[in-house]
Amino acid sequence: DKDILILAIESSCDETAAAVVKNGREVLSNIISSQIALHTLYGGVVPEIASRKHIEAIDGVIQKALAEAHVTMEDIDAVGVTYGPGLVGALLVGLAEAKALAYATGKPLVGVHHIEGHICANYIENKDFAPPYMALVVSGGHSHLVYVSDYGKYEILGHTRDDAAGEAYDKVARVIGMGYPGGPKIDAAAKVGNPNAVKFPRVFLEEDSYDFSFSGLKSAVLNYVNKERMQNHPIVPEDIAASFQQAVVDVLVTKTIRAAKDHGVTKIALAGGVASNSALRESMRLACQKEGFYLSVPSPVLCTDNAAMIGCAAYYEYIAGVRDGLDLNANPSLKL
Ligand code: KG4
Ligand code: ZN
Repeated sequence: DKDILILAIESSCDETAAAVVKNGREVLSNIISSQIALHTLYGGVVPEIASRKHIEAIDGVIQKALAEAHVTMEDIDAVGVTYGPGLVGALLVGLAEAKALAYATGKPLVGVHHIEGHICANYIENKDFAPPYMALVVSGGHSHLVYVSDYGKYEILGHTRDDAAGEAYDKVARVIGMGYPGGPKIDAAAKVGNPNAVKFPRVFLEEDSYDFSFSGLKSAVLNYVNKERMQNHPIVPEDIAASFQQAVVDVLVTKTIRAAKDHGVTKIALAGGVASNSALRESMRLACQKEGFYLSVPSPVLCTDNAAMIGCAAYYEYIAGVRDGLDLNANPSLKL
C-alpha cells in the first residue's frame, strides 16, 4: 500500500508548529517555534501577541517541516490543521495557512480537534498502542477523562468544573513567586520539597463523579501563603509546590484508575502539557503496576503542544474519509 503523508499545522495557543507524519505514527519532522519567552514578560499568554507572532513564524515553520522531512507539497496527501478549541485569533492563522496550502496545491484539508491531537500523541512512539483505553488529558486549558473506545470515538466521562490542571499549576506558581509557565517550575521545585509539609484538600466531588475541580485547591494554597506571611513565617516554596502537586496528582490518578475499572479497560494514556509532570507520571505508573494496567505516556515534547500529534489525529480522520471544505472555520470552544 502507498504511504500516506500528512502535513500538520498547530497554532491554537502560543506554539507555532508544523510536522510531516507518515502513516499516522512515523514523525518525519516536528518543528515547534515557541513564544513562551515573549509571553513570560506578561506572566501569561497575551492572545493578540500570540496571533501576530504566529503570522510571523508560520511560513518558516512549515518550510522547515517540509525540508527536514525531505519532501515537498507534491508528496503530501493531505493538510491537517487544528481548528479548535483554543485562542480564536491564534487558530485562525494556522487554519488560513492550511486552507491556502490545500487550495493552492489541490490537496484535501482535514480539521483536527486539539484534544484529539493530544490523545493521539500516544500512538507515535508506541506503535502497538490502540483503543480501547482511558485517556487523561491535562493541559493549560483542559482536564478531561476520555474513554477512547475506537479510533476517532471519544466519550468524555468528566472534565474540570473550574480551573484546568495546568491552569492551577500556573496560578499557584505565581502565588509562590515561581513565574510563568508554572508547571515545569513547580515540577522541579517539588523534587526537593516535602509533599506532606502542608495538608491541602483533595477535591473528589460526588462519589460517582469523574469531574475535577482545582480552584478550591488553588485558593487553599493562596490562603495558606497569606496566613503564613501575615504571621511573618517564612514560606518554603519547595514544600508548597510538592504539597500542592501531591494533592493534584492524587485526585488525577484516583479518578483515572476508577474510570478504567468502571469501563473494563486495562490501558491508560496520559496526554497534554501536564502529562509531562514527573510526579503524575510516576504515581500513575505505580498505580497501573498495582492494577496490572498498561500505561502509555508520550515523551514531554509530544505532551506539550506540537504538530506531530495533529498529523497523527489527521491521519486517522483521513483514512476514515474525513475531508473538510475551505469554509472550515476556527471554533474556540469546539466540542470533542
Ligand atoms: O498542552 P499544553 O502545551 O497547552 C495547552 O493546550 O494548554 O499545556 C500547557 C500546560 C501549562 O499550564 C504548563 O504549566 C503545563 O502544561 N505543564 C506542566 C509541566 N509542563 C507543562 N505542568 C506540570 N508539570 C510539568 N512538567
Ligand atoms: Zn494543548
